Amino acid sequence: MKTLRRDGFVFDAVRNRGYRIRATPERLSLPYLQCLLPGPATEDRLVFFNRTESTNRDAERLLGEGRNTPFIVLSRRQTKGRGRLGRAWHSSDEGNLYASFAFRPKVPPERMQRFTLWTGVSICRCIEEETGLSPRIKWPNDILCGTLKIGGILTEARVNADQILEMVLGIGLNINSAPSLWASPLCTEATSLREALQGKQDINRLTCAIITSLFDAYDAFMNDGYRTALNSLWEKYDLLRGRNVTAQQGKETISGRALGIDEEGRLLIATKEAAANPVRLNAGDVTLNRSRELSPSDRETI
Ligand code: BTN
Repeated sequence: MKTLRRDGFVFDAVRNRGYRIRATPERLSLPYLQCLLPGPATEDRLVFFNRTESTNRDAERLLGEGRNTPFIVLSRRQTKGRGRLGRAWHSSDEGNLYASFAFRPKVPPERMQRFTLWTGVSICRCIEEETGLSPRIKWPNDILCGTLKIGGILTEARVNADQILEMVLGIGLNINSAPSLWASPLCTEATSLREALQGKQDINRLTCAIITSLFDAYDAFMNDGYRTALNSLWEKYDLLRGRNVTAQQGKETISGRALGIDEEGRLLIATKEAAANPVRLNAGDVTLNRSRELSPSDRETI
């Protein structure tokens, strides 16, 4: 009882019957998550920290130590959250999701791109179902509400020539932060569910919904039962389709109209020069252009 109270549970004593829960924790709580989650996602599947450097880093370490997969590392805060392309992920606020999922998929390395995209649309669907918002995915894996970023995915893996040996999928989702308190440029580029919905969200329930949907997504991916769903969900949540974009791939800049993804999960961009033969983007950063004229000053970076 003491531990539960410390975590934020409030109980009423009921005469001759014990206790009744009056309030559940507002911050991420391991005992609460264990109550809410169905069997396979509990106990040794959940590694929980009050604060850590990076949950992706912890997951890598635990994989290296031989821990059974799948497992999830969760933390209330991170001190060195990692983002894509070597960027930092703002993680000092307690009210957000910082989670890393660890797997040993043993599938060919080229399937990793599609898995990341599949995860992204699965999270969009989950957010939509849980909150009624209409999030969008910006290739490859930024999650946005309107034009503001609300979450991101960082996939890191240890591979050999034939297989993905270990894979860590890190998810950051702004749930209860107040982005107006963040420093520039974050405060103008990002938002949280709390801000979008104008009210505090139940971080534990949302975390459970995301964990459940991620495990379902992983099962579907391993059974190959996801391909049709990936295409239709990508079409539904794709922020870029039909819009003019500029992409940076290494030193090359590519401008044109985004046409969705191909069977490998690469972004298709029809350029003016070769509209019938779209460029296939493997990796990189994409920005939306405001107008049809592609001048650098038109660019709206998200
Ligand atoms: C991005 O750049 O959009 C991806 C951000 C991913 C952040 C998450 S937070 C949990 C996990 N641990 C990390 O250090 N990074 C990922």
